[in-house]
Amino acid sequence: MPPIITLHGLSRHFGDKIAVDAIDLEIAPGTFLGFLGPNGAGKTTTVRMITGLLAPTAGDAEIAGHSIRREPVAVKRQIGVVPDTLALFDRLSLWEHLTLVGQVYGLSSTETESRATELLQLLGLWDDRATYAVDASHGMRKKLALAIALIHAPRILFLDEPFEGIDPIAGKVLRDLLRRLSQSGTTIFLTSHILEVVERLVDRLTIIVKGRIVLDDSLATLRQGGRSLEEIFIGAAGVDAAAGVELKWLGGE
Ligand SMILES: Nc1ncnc2c1ncn2[C@@H]1O[C@H](COP(=O)(O)OP(=O)(O)OP(=O)(O)O)[C@@H](O)[C@H]1O
Ligand SMILES: [Mg+2]
Repeated sequence: MPPIITLHGLSRHFGDKIAVDAIDLEIAPGTFLGFLGPNGAGKTTTVRMITGLLAPTAGDAEIAGHSIRREPVAVKRQIGVVPDTLALFDRLSLWEHLTLVGQVYGLSSTETESRATELLQLLGLWDDRATYAVDASHGMRKKLALAIALIHAPRILFLDEPFEGIDPIAGKVLRDLLRRLSQSGTTIFLTSHILEVVERLVDRLTIIVKGRIVLDDSLATLRQGGRSLEEIFIGAAGVDAAAGVELKWLGGE
């Protein structure tokens, strides 16, 4: 089967800073990919380029056969995205967000309303459906972004730190939901620093450091060495910038 996501030399520079450095990646349909890396490694920049939120400096990405450079609208129809900076409208309620997005994707109003109701119920947002996004808590906004990403039943999901700031109950709902989507064939591209969650969900791990992919393998193969995901991550991310820094002035003798 041809890959559903292909990155060719995908790069992004910000002035002199090379945030993403010519990365190549092929992802088979149905893969649950954990895209990990230290803070500032280039994960969010990569996700923003693949999902059409940021133009690449060089290279391209193909999603389900469509180039993000030449066919951004065709790409957007296939994907759902939870970006790290949630793009919500302050003065729309949670319910209004979902009905608006349903319409944009061409769903009938009956279908939109029934999906919106189920998503809000599943995510524990139903009682708050009339709350404006600006007045919603951090976790509520995160859950709303997730509902927005799912309402058109996309084949491919990009989730940038979806577990950050949500409570343990919502975390379990989200884990179960992602597992179910993955089992039914949805391709999932996940960034997260919560390694215990990543370990329980993904089947492939890609680690990016300073804009370059330093490790890319199936979780099963990586686990054969008997190392924990934390050891694999720290081993791949390498350099220990904190080595030798003691902070003697901060407490102690
Ligand atoms: N708009 C921007 N302008 C300038 N530099 C940027 C911009 N966006 C990202 N960068 C830089 O690009 C690099 C990669 O950032 P990115 O947000 O992709 O990292 P990340 O891997 O998602 O990190 P984190 O784990 O902290 O979310 C960082 O050095 C960051 O400062
Ligand atoms: Mg990020």
